Amino acid sequence: MKITIRMLPILLVLAGLDAGLALAQQTDAPHLEKRGAATQLVVDGKPFLILGGELRNSSSSNLDYMKPIWPRLEAMGLNTVVTPLSWELIEPQEGTFDFSLVDGLIDQARAAHERIVFLWLASWKNGMSSYAPVWVKEDTNRFPREMEFGRPVEILSPLGKATEQADARAFAALMRHIKQVDGSQHTVLMMQVENEVGVLGDSRDHSPAANAAFDGDVPAKLTAYLQAHRATLYPDLRELWDANGDKTSGTWTDVFGNSERADEVFMAWQYGSYIQAVAAAGKAEYDIPMYVNTWLEGETTPPGQYPSGGPEPRVYDVWKAAGSSIDIYSPDLYASDFIAWCRRYHREGNPLFMPETRGDAAGAANVFYALGEEAGIGISPFGIDTEANMYAQSGKPDPLAASYHLIGEIEPLLLEHQSAGDVRGFTLDRDHSTVDFAMSGYTLHVSLDNIFGGQAKSGFGLIMAMGKDEFLGAGEGFRVTFTPRPESGPQVGIGAITEGKFENGNWIPGRRLNGDEDDQGNFWRFAPRSETIEKITLYRYTQ
Ligand code: DGJ
Repeated sequence: MKITIRMLPILLVLAGLDAGLALAQQTDAPHLEKRGAATQLVVDGKPFLILGGELRNSSSSNLDYMKPIWPRLEAMGLNTVVTPLSWELIEPQEGTFDFSLVDGLIDQARAAHERIVFLWLASWKNGMSSYAPVWVKEDTNRFPREMEFGRPVEILSPLGKATEQADARAFAALMRHIKQVDGSQHTVLMMQVENEVGVLGDSRDHSPAANAAFDGDVPAKLTAYLQAHRATLYPDLRELWDANGDKTSGTWTDVFGNSERADEVFMAWQYGSYIQAVAAAGKAEYDIPMYVNTWLEGETTPPGQYPSGGPEPRVYDVWKAAGSSIDIYSPDLYASDFIAWCRRYHREGNPLFMPETRGDAAGAANVFYALGEEAGIGISPFGIDTEANMYAQSGKPDPLAASYHLIGEIEPLLLEHQSAGDVRGFTLDRDHSTVDFAMSGYTLHVSLDNIFGGQAKSGFGLIMAMGKDEFLGAGEGFRVTFTPRPESGPQVGIGAITEGKFENGNWIPGRRLNGDEDDQGNFWRFAPRSETIEKITLYRYTQ
C-alpha cells in the first residue's frame, strides 16, 4: 500500500492507539482482585490459579542445573514455579547488580510455558541471614546483628535501619529490572519477600537498639490499629491485649505484659515494619502482589523455638498494622491439621496461598480442599524438582501431577465457582470419613467410598453446582447422596451420571455410569485410586 501525505493523521492516530494499547498491557500487571465471594489473582485480565511447586533452595542458583527440570515440571501440569532468588547473587558487591540469572530463569520458564513466583531470599531465610551478601555479613557495625543471651548471633537485626535500606534498595532494583524485562509478558506473577523470618534461639532480639525500643513506647500506629480492628483481631492477640488492660499507650511490657508472647509481638512489629518497607520499595518500581510465608508452630511452643515474630496467625495483625504492602500472609503448611491451619490464614480478607506444603499423595488431596473449599489462589508443594525427578525416574504416575492435570482442565469453571461461592472441597480419611453441606437446594452427604464391603482408605474432591439438579464433581475415593431441602416434598433420584473431561473448556462426555459405578443408582461414586470428573443430573418424584 502506498502511503500518501493525506493518510498521515490517520496513521498517527493509529500509532497513538497502538502505543496506548502497549501501555495498557504494560500497566495491567498481575494483581489481586475481589471477585464476588473470593479474592483472586488476575493475570492478563483473567483470574488465574497457581498450580505450583517450590524448587529446593539452591536449584535455581544455576541455569544449567535448572535446564532439564523445567520440562519435567511442565509435564507434571504445573503452571507456576516458585523460584528462589538470593540477594548475594544479585548484588555481589554493593551497588553492582547482576540480573543475568533473573533473565535466564525467566527465559527458561517461558520456554517451558511456566510462570514464576520469585522468592526474595535476602536479610532472612528460615530465621537466619545466610543469603545476605558477604559485604553485608562482614560489616557488623553498619549492619548490626541480633543478640541472644548476651552474644551476637548470625542473624541481622530488623532494627538495623541501614540493613533495611540496603535490602530495600536491592529489592527495588530487582523489581525495576523485572518490570523492564517482563512488564508486558507477566511471566513473573508475585514476589515472596524474605523467607520464614523471626528470631531463632531466643524470644526476642536483645541488642542494645532492640532493648531501647522494647523499653520505649509501643508505637501509636500499632495501638490505633488494635483499637480500630478489635472485633476482627486474631483471638489470641486480642486476649493478650485484653489481659493487660487494653492499654493504648505504654511500654511493650505495659501493653502486652511481661512474657515471651510480648516479645513475639514486639518482634512481629520489628520484622513487619522492616519487610513492609522492603516490599513498598519494590512495589514503587513494579506493583505486583507480594506475600510473606510462615514457619508454623503449635500454640504452645515457646517463641524462639520457632522464628519469633514471623507472621504466625496470632501476630500477623501486628504486621498488618505496620504497613499495607504485603498482600498475603501465607502458611508453609506441613502440619497434619491441614484444614485448621488453612482456616487460620484464610480469614478477614487474607486469601489463601500456600508457597510450601507437602507434595505427593498428601498434596494431591490437599489441592482440592485448598482451592475448592478455601477459594485458594494457589498451592505449591516444596521440593518439587525432587518429586519430578523421582517420578520421572521410576516411571510411576505422580498423584500430584494427576490432581494438577485434572484441576487444569476445570480451572476456568472452578474460578467462576470460587467467585460465585458455590464450590465445596474436602479430604476424607477413616478418622474423618464424612462431610455434609448444603448446595443448590440439597444437603450433600459426602463419605469415603464404600462398595461391596470395601471402604476406601482416603478420598478427596470438590463439587460445584452447575444448574438446577445438576452438579459437577472431581476427585477420587468418595460417594455422595442428596437430600432435598426442605425434606418434605418430592423425593430425589439419580437421573444420570456421566464421566468426562474438558478440552479447551468444552465438556467431552465419556462413559455413562449407571451400574456398579454408581452402586445401581444408590450413590454418586468416585472410585478410589483414579481421579475423575463426573457430572450428575438428579430427578424428583413422588411415591
Ligand atoms: C522451610 C523453608 O522455608 C524452605 O526453604 C525449606 O528449606 C523447607 N523448610 C525444608 O523443608
